[in-house]
Amino acid sequence: MKKIFLNLGKQPITNSFLNKIDKKTTKNEFFYNLSIGFDKKNFLVSLMNYVNPKKMFNDKYAHRASSSKTMRKSFKVIASKLKKRFKPKKSLEIGSNDGVFIKNFDKREVIAVEPCKNLAKITKSAGFKTYSEFWNKRLAKKIVKSNNKIDLIYSANTISHIPDFKEVFDAASIGLSKNGVFVFEDPYIGSVIKNNSYDQFYDEHAHLFSLLSVSKILSNTNLKVFDVEIIKTHGGSIRFYICRRNSKFKKTKNMKFLISKEIRQGLNKFITFKKFSNRVKKSKKKLIHILKKLKKNNKKIISYGATYKSTTVFNYCNIGTNFIDYVIDTTSNKQGKFTPGKHIPIISPKVGLNDAVDYAFLGAWNFKKEIQLKENFFLKRGGKFITHVPNVRII
Ligand code: TMP
Repeated sequence: MKKIFLNLGKQPITNSFLNKIDKKTTKNEFFYNLSIGFDKKNFLVSLMNYVNPKKMFNDKYAHRASSSKTMRKSFKVIASKLKKRFKPKKSLEIGSNDGVFIKNFDKREVIAVEPCKNLAKITKSAGFKTYSEFWNKRLAKKIVKSNNKIDLIYSANTISHIPDFKEVFDAASIGLSKNGVFVFEDPYIGSVIKNNSYDQFYDEHAHLFSLLSVSKILSNTNLKVFDVEIIKTHGGSIRFYICRRNSKFKKTKNMKFLISKEIRQGLNKFITFKKFSNRVKKSKKKLIHILKKLKKNNKKIISYGATYKSTTVFNYCNIGTNFIDYVIDTTSNKQGKFTPGKHIPIISPKVGLNDAVDYAFLGAWNFKKEIQLKENFFLKRGGKFITHVPNVRII
């Protein structure tokens, strides 16, 4: 049974950027209550109420995984690492987005699974075998029937999106070859607690995992975690290495080390999350305080990165065009649109990061280094960034 520890209020679908703002579109905008709970039976942190995946992952999916240099590099590195370590003959990616990971593989040796039709089209037309469907047992059976078993199933920032985690693992178990491995990575709850990055909670993140929770979930299946890594992407992610219980892979010492660390951090206790929720409330107060002060001094504030995370922040803190003039984002299909819920216009950084801007809120704080490097001229001429991670401050 989940017990609620945080309520982030009325929130829209983070991927539903609006084309225009008029009575009809705003009246039809879908909102739900974003509250988060902890299940002390399996230590899993999940949304109290899941949003229907069909509402979120459709043919208008805006996010392009290859839009950041950091991510392009990260996918190249992990693809090469996995190929070297496991030497897979057949690989598959769940949630292949625009193909940023699979493009590092031979087209004959990799399969893409991507329910968003507009994204699936990209990998299909690049010549990759692509199934534009949700990952489940039925699809795994269909794939195995026409392709044989899979040696490497990889997934980044997708497994946390699937409410029914049992279905995910059962499907992996159907798809994997005898010594096949299922490697997946998602934002890490340990980092969210440490960095106070409450904006990792939004409609798509049905769960945020720890090693404790995934080990517990797998304890009554024929799969086991045999290795784990904490990685830097998305402000702290966890990468699991999973295989069959009777496979040749033995548990590494990283496992014992991280389990002890998670217990020390209290990821097995409700009180840890309750304390986090108090810090989130303080973060909201401080951010509004800073923005109000800057506005009083006639400063021009914009936001950098039309991220799903910033949708949580803006809607939770009630930040709209009262504080933020507009949002800048390099993704062309976000430009010219309006942010979900708060309806802030989105424009390109080339136009938007001009001399009139005094402050830019880091909606894409997870790419802070890449952005600071790229926008050196903005900093040099006295422009400043505002962030709320790990605490609210002006950089
Ligand atoms: P994400 O945090 O969900 O991956 O989204 C990052 C968003 O920020 C994505 O829409 C692209 C945008 N972005 C920029 O506009 N400029 C940049 O330099 C970077 C790194 C990201």
